Amino acid sequence: MPVDFAAQLRADADQVAAQLDQLIVTDAGPATRLIDSMRYATMNGGKRMRAALVMGAARLAFSSRGEIPDPTAEIGMVRAAAALEALHAYSLVHDDLPAMDDADTRRGKASAHIAFDEATAILAGDALQTLAFDILADPQTHADGNVRAELVLTLARASGVRGMAGGQILDLQAETTTFSLDQVKEMQAMKTGALIHAAALCGGIVSGADVTLRAALSDFSRDLGLAFQIADDLLDYQGDEGALGKPTGQDAERGKGSFVTLMGLAEARTAAARLIEDADAALAPWGADAEYLQSMAAFAIARKS
Ligand code: IPE
Ligand code: IPE
Ligand code: MG
Ligand code: MG
Ligand code: MG
Repeated sequence: MPVDFAAQLRADADQVAAQLDQLIVTDAGPATRLIDSMRYATMNGGKRMRAALVMGAARLAFSSRGEIPDPTAEIGMVRAAAALEALHAYSLVHDDLPAMDDADTRRGKASAHIAFDEATAILAGDALQTLAFDILADPQTHADGNVRAELVLTLARASGVRGMAGGQILDLQAETTTFSLDQVKEMQAMKTGALIHAAALCGGIVSGADVTLRAALSDFSRDLGLAFQIADDLLDYQGDEGALGKPTGQDAERGKGSFVTLMGLAEARTAAARLIEDADAALAPWGADAEYLQSMAAFAIARKS
């Protein structure tokens, strides 16, 4: 039966939002302002695509074995998805800070440093980052410590100097240095691609995917991650600020090197479409079981927000 992509994405998004709601509890201690800011930065919509990737990859692993996840496995999948969203939310809070992109809006609301203040936003990012690893390292995510360690290692590597944080500093340097196309590609693969790659891999890890499926998830999500950031850059140039819920035109204003500046709009669009074709092909051997992830890939470049 063909998957109803929109309905499944909504279901995954709702499930992870409910999990985050339970994980970031208002009575978790005296730092109530920090907790409020963490909730503000996470419980505010967002497409939840990284969460959906975790869930979709995990469901694919189960269905490829002819299995249905039991309630314990389901909790593990949702917790891994929540960890990815917590890490992602942290990256957005810091990305919007005046020292970085200086963006006043996010997800259609005031950015965290505007709604609270800069110091609180920095700390909210810090605490969301450690929360992500707290979730993954907790036995509720998986009974096997080796699996938990692999989840933690995967997310740590994707977030650090060779991943998101490293990509973010290259991104800032792209405002003042001329980047080649290969350098832009590397920067985007790090700042955005690494976390999307980690989401797909964590979905595979938490569900015990075999090496063949893991390799395919890796290939799929590398292409998806790059295409996703090309789409983000295109939306910065051409998107509707109201629909996006964040500022547009910032990249051009700052002369930031991107696929769009180096290739032009039409070619960037073609490059993204080609990457999505490659992403789909990586999962073709899984047939209809891969449909949800393939629809997600199509969504990543067709989206308006
Ligand atoms: C925005 O990510 C930041 C990038 C890495 C390009 P999303 O477009 O997934 O943002 P949300 O989570 O839906 O708000
Ligand atoms: C952000 O890239 C990547 C992150 C690691 C958060 P952008 O700066 O282009 O993301 P938006 O456009 O602000 O969402
Ligand atoms: Mg940025
Ligand atoms: Mg930004
Ligand atoms: Mg952007």
